[in-house]
Amino acid sequence: MRVLVVGASGAIGTRLVPQLIDRGHEVMGTARSREKADRLLALGAEPVVLDALDARAVRQVVADSKPDAVVHEATALAAVRFGRNFDRLFAETNRLRTEGTDALLAAAREVGVRRFVAQSFASMRNAREGGMVKTEDDPLDPDPPATMREAQAAMRHLEQAVVQDKGIVLRYGGFYGAANDAMVGPVRKRQFPIVGDGGGYSSWIHLDDAAAATVLAVEHDGPAVYNIVDDEPAPTREWLPVLAEALGAKPPRHVPVWLARVIGGDVAVLMGTDARGASNAKAKHELGWTLRYPSWRQGFAEVYAAR
Ligand SMILES: NC(=O)c1ccc[n+]([C@@H]2O[C@H](COP(=O)([O-])OP(=O)(O)OC[C@H]3O[C@@H](n4cnc5c(N)ncnc54)[C@H](OP(=O)(O)O)[C@@H]3O)[C@@H](O)[C@H]2O)c1
Repeated sequence: MRVLVVGASGAIGTRLVPQLIDRGHEVMGTARSREKADRLLALGAEPVVLDALDARAVRQVVADSKPDAVVHEATALAAVRFGRNFDRLFAETNRLRTEGTDALLAAAREVGVRRFVAQSFASMRNAREGGMVKTEDDPLDPDPPATMREAQAAMRHLEQAVVQDKGIVLRYGGFYGAANDAMVGPVRKRQFPIVGDGGGYSSWIHLDDAAAATVLAVEHDGPAVYNIVDDEPAPTREWLPVLAEALGAKPPRHVPVWLARVIGGDVAVLMGTDARGASNAKAKHELGWTLRYPSWRQGFAEVYAAR
């Protein structure tokens, strides 16, 4: 298939491009600058410069490249550091998930693109009730913290629009597997604490496993939503000390909920105490996906041991 990867120069895109090529697909990959796009040549992709927030340019690129499949992996999180106001940090990513998705879907419809796969997120999405591990069918949080309402709404928008056009939504877990993983700095500096009882769940995914699932999704008919997470959703009190040890950092600090709320805000408390994890059973069953890193326990140790 001819596959257009939008956001090919990012954390997931750079893992995805070589895996698509290995499976025999012809890949066109986008970045926002000529310099970054040219680096995609080394990965084997045909480079394309594209701002996904420019609907006219999106239409032109999709019309010119005539792909069989489009994969939307564009996020604008490179400069983001975890902070109190999630929506402010995610503002551009929210636009990529709303305006960017709409532009790509419209362009794809125009030229009859067969497959559309788009990035979403698994953690901190579900209603905070019942069991701690959720499937794709479980209800989303109807009342997320005020500072992440726009981010949640943008993900819902993306998911509904993609599924409506018979595409596939991938709710990835927290990415790890690269030197600049978002958690590395804060955990090394002991800035990422266990909040309260540390009972909030996270789901993780190694970037190589995320890319492998994405290739399978490109080769699969939609509509569908899949959690692309590892086998072991776990509470912060379990995974955070293991991550700190893998990084050679001191054990994480403990902070009471009230203090975490003052310093980190409601999202920090949600993640630390109340968030749900995600089940990968559907993706394994329907996509035939197998994981090289079934648990963050093994993954963190392997990835960070050498660093
Ligand atoms: N599930 C998760 O845990 C998750 C999800 C996303 C990101 N992250 C983490 O966040 C950090 C930064 O991630 P990242 O490198 O993927 O983000 P990024 O640097 O923002 O790059 C993502 C991709 O989107 C592209 N992009 C950004 N704005 C665009 C626009 N307006 N139009 C078209 N393409 C656009 C980027 O192009 P350029 O290279 O040209 O900028 C790049 O190809 C990494 O540590 C990553 O692991 C985690």
